[in-house]
Amino acid sequence: MTKPKKKISASILSADFGRLAEQIQEAEAAGVDWIHFDVMDGHFVPNLTIGLPVLQAVRKITKLPLDVHLMISNPELYIEKYVEAGADWVGVQVEVAWHLERLVQQIKELGAKATVVLNPATPLSYLDMILSEADMVLLMTVNPGYSGQKFIRGTLPKIKQLREMIDNQGLDVLLQVDGGVHLNTVDDLVAAGVDVFVSGSGVFDGGNIAENVRRLRERLE
Ligand code: DX5
Ligand code: ZN
Repeated sequence: MTKPKKKISASILSADFGRLAEQIQEAEAAGVDWIHFDVMDGHFVPNLTIGLPVLQAVRKITKLPLDVHLMISNPELYIEKYVEAGADWVGVQVEVAWHLERLVQQIKELGAKATVVLNPATPLSYLDMILSEADMVLLMTVNPGYSGQKFIRGTLPKIKQLREMIDNQGLDVLLQVDGGVHLNTVDDLVAAGVDVFVSGSGVFDGGNIAENVRRLRERLE
């Protein structure tokens, strides 16, 4: 069996918001697989970004799967709204999920895919009861809040360990990373067994999206 292709999920947090539709379409033409959509609340993370109206607008201009990353407190209040607005994937941070299994079930019952997200300092033991229920686990490789931060190398052993857990249990769970994915970090992440690479500044910085994606893709093959 051939291994499924590794995926690039382009984080539009690094895009030029004045030309958002154009930049998303450029990323789509360049061959990114998903669009990563970072929702921040100024509470769980020290930044405010985009929300429902922008997601609805993005849904209308691309056919790519929308990979929503909720960095918000009380995610249970918003999950349904994000799925209605067009999210294909909904990610919740375990640090603010009081009833994680309930949230994962809620996402799946609404017809979306459920991502369980862990900050760099959050141990893998948080996954003990939920790994087999999740569709994807996102291991943050920076502390969430901003694009363009430096990759935290100390997360690499944790990524490898999760890869082993998923494989040893024979689970159909994708392993995603987010933060500081660049040409100088991507080789280690490929070696660690990552399936889905979120990239913001790596895709949008400098404005040559086609070239950025081409170079990144080259390293994933
Ligand atoms: C960080 C966000 C990321 C961010 C990644 O809190 O979750 O998705 O946009 O940006 P880069 O790829 O520039 O680190
Ligand atoms: Zn993100």
